[in-house]
Amino acid sequence: MKKLRVMSVFGTRPEAIKMCPLALELNAREEFESLVCVTAQHREMLDSVLDTFSVRPDYDLNIMEPQQTLATITGKILRQLGDVLQDAKPDVVLVHGDTTTTFAGALAAFYEKIPVGHVEAGLRTYDRWSPFPEEMNRCMVGRIAQYHFAPTAQNRANLEREAVSGSIFVTGNTVIDAMKYTVNDRPFACEALNGVDFGGKVIAMTCHRRENYGEPMENIFSAVAELARAFPDVRIVYPVHLSPVVQRAARAHLEGIPNILLTEPLDAMDMHKLMARSYMVMTDSGGIQEEAPSLGKPVLVLRRETERPEAVSAGTVALAGTERAAIVRMASELLTDSAKYEAMARAVNPYGDGSACARIADALTWGFGLSDAAPADFVPQK
Ligand code: UD1
Ligand code: UDP
Repeated sequence: MKKLRVMSVFGTRPEAIKMCPLALELNAREEFESLVCVTAQHREMLDSVLDTFSVRPDYDLNIMEPQQTLATITGKILRQLGDVLQDAKPDVVLVHGDTTTTFAGALAAFYEKIPVGHVEAGLRTYDRWSPFPEEMNRCMVGRIAQYHFAPTAQNRANLEREAVSGSIFVTGNTVIDAMKYTVNDRPFACEALNGVDFGGKVIAMTCHRRENYGEPMENIFSAVAELARAFPDVRIVYPVHLSPVVQRAARAHLEGIPNILLTEPLDAMDMHKLMARSYMVMTDSGGIQEEAPSLGKPVLVLRRETERPEAVSAGTVALAGTERAAIVRMASELLTDSAKYEAMARAVNPYGDGSACARIADALTWGFGLSDAAPADFVPQK
């Protein structure tokens, strides 16, 4: 039987966490020949995920450089990936989400006239500047792709409104599949975390987004410093993203405050365990908004908008914005008002049931005529 040659292209930490389980699923199925090409838009943060999932890339473009810009990342990927695609000749290229790797990867495949499958398709804020440049990346990849793997029914509706061409499947998010590998009871690999008393209230936080650079990030960090001083018994754990902009701002505002622990980026297992053991989460991350609700942890989103409204509707995620006073007020309420806390701390799974990768693989075999039936849509359990 001729195998379907699938190349997964990804480059940053979140793409890797969400694509490695899919690469493993494709690898395990005899209908597929699975190839992985990493751009290495991220280096250490990507390699940590590849190690966690024991995924060995077939191609590594190794493009990361200090002070990289959106233009340099895009240009390098376009130039190098074209050669890889000509060499590997995949039947389909899979890209994930909304990063510069996603957009440049899809465009490079289009230039080679290779069909593109977009994993995590259809998320929208309808604000081209927020998240920047991710919202535009998603829209552009939506035009290029022929297979759209939408995590939720709402994501599919967004794509239908835009009349994208090709086939749309509602699959759930592969991040929930990833958590089957990562969440466990073992000690942390990061030694500093083994010293944290999770019997007390611990807040897991992250903050890294480009649209928060500058004043919004300053506001967020001064809110976090104020919270730490107001609640000396609460421990705040913040693994700081390697972006030099984030490193500088975080260290300037938060270093030296006794109940704030700043760490290196955590490997995915540690991060997921940290959230599972924490009282609540504060973040501007996309992926964490999907993970924490499935762990029953309230999330305050440090952004003005979200492309992930499902958990907001379910009541476990709230938008705190980027103003200092509002962040302090909302976090203080969750720390002191147990009724409010209990109302948010419910495990919900609007983003997946752990079978997204299987649905994507089934959709591909159907799309390429190797099977008769398309997979049934993911439907969240109430
Ligand atoms: C990128 C994505 C963003 C995603 C984030 C995940 C784009 C436009 N943005 O943003 O959607 O939320 O990844 O974390 O694609 N760095 C290292 N080592 C690493 C990783 C990063 O040193 O392993 C440093 C580099 O100096 C790099 C900087 O971080 O220049 C920023 O990385 P970059 O990929 O350009 O943007 P992110 O802000 O990480
Ligand atoms: N994450 C991680 N280590 C960290 C911080 C985050 O493994 O120190 C994980 C997190 O659990 C989620 C993913 O990285 O799975 C989200 O990546 P990030 O916040 O960098 O990007 P976004 O999702 O906002 O694009």
